Amino acid sequence: MNTVVEALDLPNADLDRAWTAIKLPDDVRERLLAQTVLALQLRQQFPFEDIPIHGLIILSGPPGTGKTTLARGLASRAANALKNTGTRFLQIDPHALTSSSLGQSQKEVSKLFHQTIPDHADQDPCIVLLDEVETLAPDRRRMSLESNPIDVHRATDAALAGIDLLTRKHVNVLLVATTNFREAVDRALLSRADWIEEVGLPGVDARLDIITDVLATLATVWPKVGELKTHIGQFVKASEGLDGRRLRKAIISAAAGSIETASDLNKLTPEHVLLTLERQTETRRGSEAA
Ligand SMILES: Nc1ncnc2c1ncn2[C@@H]1O[C@H](COP(=O)(O)OP(=O)(O)OP(=O)(O)O)[C@@H](O)[C@H]1O
Ligand SMILES: [Mg+2]
Repeated sequence: MNTVVEALDLPNADLDRAWTAIKLPDDVRERLLAQTVLALQLRQQFPFEDIPIHGLIILSGPPGTGKTTLARGLASRAANALKNTGTRFLQIDPHALTSSSLGQSQKEVSKLFHQTIPDHADQDPCIVLLDEVETLAPDRRRMSLESNPIDVHRATDAALAGIDLLTRKHVNVLLVATTNFREAVDRALLSRADWIEEVGLPGVDARLDIITDVLATLATVWPKVGELKTHIGQFVKASEGLDGRRLRKAIISAAAGSIETASDLNKLTPEHVLLTLERQTETRRGSEAA
């Protein structure tokens, strides 16, 4: 299995779109960008002992809140802000490392930090996305030696040692990690983070933006969908508690109520949308109660 799922030169137009696709309060967006640019700049100028920046930013939050997408967009925007044309982006899939055969995980994790990342990061800045980092550095306190092979324990040790190596030797590398299960991430990893951003469920403004976005996109093909905007206040209210992924899907699924609306979205009514949103929020409540 391949550890590096994507390697790109930055800035990148698709990644820029990812940044705007995720609706968030402006201050969160700005803080993330500033933190990223600051970390990359300061680490290249000062020794760690004077300015202790590890070069690790963590996005934590429930599933479907846009963390992975945002991290990809952040990389591109940071490259833009740095005005450095040589910036690279790497996306790592930690599952590929830890699913390897017994005794191999630790070796694979070490290889990632000692070889794979440094090979991609020469002189220019390199932003590395460690997606679902709880797989790479699971909390060692939660492991019982009976159910978790010692190999997994050692893999976390190797990840921490690897991050320390990058911190000291590769000041041009910035790690952006995501997790939807913060309690499962090793505390030593969390404590190395320069910034942990809690990405929550979308609030009223974000939901308004998401719904507007989906309706506008659908309206480019089915113009009548645009008229649903007059009911947007009701949609925003009915969608409280949904994550961004479910919300986008729910608006689209509203058309799946019948073959008629599915084949012609101009026939979609506000009632279709409201009903689907209400069903989705009930499903969410049900799954939380379970
Ligand atoms: N705040 C948001 N604004 C707009 N769209 C959103 C938002 N949150 C999620 N989405 C939509 O959901 C999709 C999936 O998001 P993404 O995979 O980045 O979430 P995630 O937080 O990484 O989820 P997971 O924890 O399950 O990996 C996005 O591509 C986007 O379409
Ligand atoms: Mg994700």
